[in-house]
Amino acid sequence: MTQFSDRVEAISISGIREVFEAAGEDAINLGLGQPDFPTPAHAKEAAIEAIRDGRTDGYTSNKGTLELREAIAAKHDRDQGVTVDPTDVVATSGGSEALHLALEAHVQPGDEVIIPDPGFVSYDALTKLAGGEPVPIPLREDLTIDPATVEEHLTDDTAAFVVNSPANPTGTVASEDDVREFARIADEHDVLCISDEVYEHFVFEGEHYSPIEYERENVVVVNACSKAYSMTGWRLGWVTGTNERIERMLRVHQYAQACASAPAQFAAEAALSGPQDVVDEMRESFERRRDVVLDGLAEAGLECPTPHGAFYAMPEVPEGFVDECIERGVVIVPGEAFGAHGAGYARISYATAEEDLREALDIMQDAAAAVR
Ligand SMILES: Cc1ncc(COP(=O)(O)O)c(C=O)c1O
Repeated sequence: MTQFSDRVEAISISGIREVFEAAGEDAINLGLGQPDFPTPAHAKEAAIEAIRDGRTDGYTSNKGTLELREAIAAKHDRDQGVTVDPTDVVATSGGSEALHLALEAHVQPGDEVIIPDPGFVSYDALTKLAGGEPVPIPLREDLTIDPATVEEHLTDDTAAFVVNSPANPTGTVASEDDVREFARIADEHDVLCISDEVYEHFVFEGEHYSPIEYERENVVVVNACSKAYSMTGWRLGWVTGTNERIERMLRVHQYAQACASAPAQFAAEAALSGPQDVVDEMRESFERRRDVVLDGLAEAGLECPTPHGAFYAMPEVPEGFVDECIERGVVIVPGEAFGAHGAGYARISYATAEEDLREALDIMQDAAAAVR
């Protein structure tokens, strides 16, 4: 008899894919979670050169090349103002693997992991794969994570809590006060805070804050080149933490991956150390499109907490709205795909050409009128 592990049986393929498959070929896809920009040319060139020189033919160090980890440490210094030793970083296969390492290394069977709901789909699944129990917590009305709610849900079994700012699927950004609170909770309760910062460069109002600025011992930062440099296909991320934590995460990484893809490591090093104007261009473009989306949603009579970052908006939608949009050729993702508290919302990714966005918003207006 074929046997599968209970851990794998407890998870299923993300609902987002099913939405894409339900839509026709000509549909405008506002369901994708990736920027619509090319990877910066200097990053591509760095990988091509490394390949030509034969520098990518073998394994790199398990943690990743020293040069890449130095570039990541320099990034922490530049953006967070914190000094990170390059030995306290593991380069991973995207932010996804970084999350996997963080949970795998810290969660005991039956441990609880507090996750935002609605939240990025991997938090729930990777917690279960690590043998833990996800504890989804509702968000504030403005769709930010409330530190008080995190604190209320701590128990003796809590291994970690996950925070994500700017956030997928809500586009919301945590305030400095909230991030300080996350750090305090991690410190005072001696519980791990996993901070997913893959959208850190896409903040339109205010600033990005990281708990690592206020607390080092109990914070693990997950990040990636995927969104910041439009490198989702390269699969390059990293995890930063104390040496003790990194050594445990490295054990998982060594046996599951050996090392992150070498060509991607060279591209990432160039992206992180090269000119950052590409990131600014993307941010400005996303901000313009965010405004187009907010105007369009208001015209459609849909309420939407203002997203201050990433490239997502999460309006409240009437029943039947998502299906009606998909039928009319606009793909959006139902909020339930991101957790039970996402019901009644939909995620719109606006990393799409402005012309298509405008057309999609017109269609959404008709769809909203049709289901009311
Ligand atoms: C919040 C969040 N974290 C992590 C990831 C994983 O990114 P990567 O492509 O680097 O694995 C994503 C991807 O959509 C995301 O939205």
